[in-house]
Amino acid sequence: MMYSEKVMDHFMNPRNVGEIEDASGVGTVGNAKCGDIMKIFLKIEDGIVLDAKFKTFGCGAAVATSSMATELIKGKTIQEALEITNKAVMEALDGLPPVKVHCSCLAEEALHAALWDYAEKNGIVIEGLEKPVNDIGEHEEGYYEAE
Ligand code: FES
Repeated sequence: MMYSEKVMDHFMNPRNVGEIEDASGVGTVGNAKCGDIMKIFLKIEDGIVLDAKFKTFGCGAAVATSSMATELIKGKTIQEALEITNKAVMEALDGLPPVKVHCSCLAEEALHAALWDYAEKNGIVIEGLEKPVNDIGEHEEGYYEAE
């Protein structure tokens, strides 16, 4: 079996699919190399992520990692949310095949983009958050090296 049971579960029954109408932050990130796009919506109040939803036009691993990433971020403070890296998402899913690692990077980057949007809308700076990219394809080599 190429995918873990958890990956299959989150792919077949993705959590948090949809939009948040009055989202505090929205992040959209794509990967031009595979053509996949992920959009994440966050509802943040008093520094806590109360809700997270996503829409993903992408492969099964992109759906599963968006699902897990939105599950992990709910209830977290903004600083804790920054610790939800692609590695943390992959660990929570019991791993991904190496060719699918970039899909989890899309999830991490979309979360960061949504947090960045929230920070911009509120005129705040989130320490440790770097400006996200629109297309992670540019960064792909770096991500693979990190593995
Ligand atoms: Fe591109 Fe999975 S193949 S996100």
